[in-house]
Amino acid sequence: MNNTVFAMRMYHAFMRVVDNQGMLAAVNAQPLTDLFRLDGRVALITGAAGAFGRAIALGFASVGARVFLTDLNADGLEESVAHVRDAGGTCASAPGDSGSNSDVQAVFERLDREFGQIDILVNNAGRNPMQGRPEEFPLDIWESVLRTNLTGYFLFARAAGARMIARGEGGAIVNVSSIASASSLGRGNLAYATSKSGVNQLTRELAVEWARHRVRVNAIQPCQFLNAGWRSMVGDPNRAPLVERVLSGIPIGRMGEPEEIVGPVLFLVSDAASMVTGVLLPVDGGNLALNPTGTLSAE
Ligand SMILES: NC(=O)c1ccc[n+]([C@@H]2O[C@H](COP(=O)([O-])OP(=O)(O)OC[C@H]3O[C@@H](n4cnc5c(N)ncnc54)[C@H](O)[C@@H]3O)[C@@H](O)[C@H]2O)c1
Repeated sequence: MNNTVFAMRMYHAFMRVVDNQGMLAAVNAQPLTDLFRLDGRVALITGAAGAFGRAIALGFASVGARVFLTDLNADGLEESVAHVRDAGGTCASAPGDSGSNSDVQAVFERLDREFGQIDILVNNAGRNPMQGRPEEFPLDIWESVLRTNLTGYFLFARAAGARMIARGEGGAIVNVSSIASASSLGRGNLAYATSKSGVNQLTRELAVEWARHRVRVNAIQPCQFLNAGWRSMVGDPNRAPLVERVLSGIPIGRMGEPEEIVGPVLFLVSDAASMVTGVLLPVDGGNLALNPTGTLSAE
């Protein structure tokens, strides 16, 4: 190693320590609860007409973020916007298909015009049209699920990451994965589970590539939460065996409420998680901790 290369390395190492001290000073200077505030930040949330998206939008707005919402379902999206504004939040929106590159570009053009920055992305839009056996799985369903659940996450992350890097202020991305990414559920989840395991690796790759830009990328792995689909199944006697089977795999003994997703996502995007990147966080009532041969009762 020649002297110039050595001097450059020492300089960069020194600058990293200086950076650390700046970060530590900022973290130490505020009460712990302030680490969870998002004042001055803009958060883009996809799938915002749905259960998780709406709860996250309301949660982020309540701690000071300006939220930009998008979803394929334009009516549901408008309802979510109204909820956030009724609660006193600052909110804008644009409908679109998250699997369409041109729609994603249009969403970002609108966001650029409305807010001029993006600090946080929650990749959340997803679908699971469960089908029959793998040997009969229709190609068009396979492709459309991967398009929405995986390519859509990539398109949003790419556009958000490019803006975060260009601005130089860092950022945080949370990808909503699933317990289905970690082990097999069977019963027609082939395309969904495959797309979510792709989301896990997308998360790790982006986390590593963008760490140098202070863009943190993490994922959550929820178990079954009571969105509209699960609520209708819980109330349907014909689906009782499935509901019972699901509950037998959740040590906490119940499905989640959508509002219970907000805290873990907020933690990951907040300054409280300033050293957390590339993580897959189960939000699953203990599901992934339970071995399939394990037993919940004392026997
Ligand atoms: N609720 C659960 O049990 C559960 C468990 C694990 C993971 N997840 C994941 O959490 C995320 C949110 O789920 P949810 O429970 O809120 O479901 P939800 O059905 O209530 O919301 C999903 C939203 O995504 C939107 N969407 C679907 N396809 C789209 C597309 N192509 N473009 C734009 N928007 C589209 C829908 O219109 C809907 O508003 C999904 O990625 C889902 O896979 C949910």
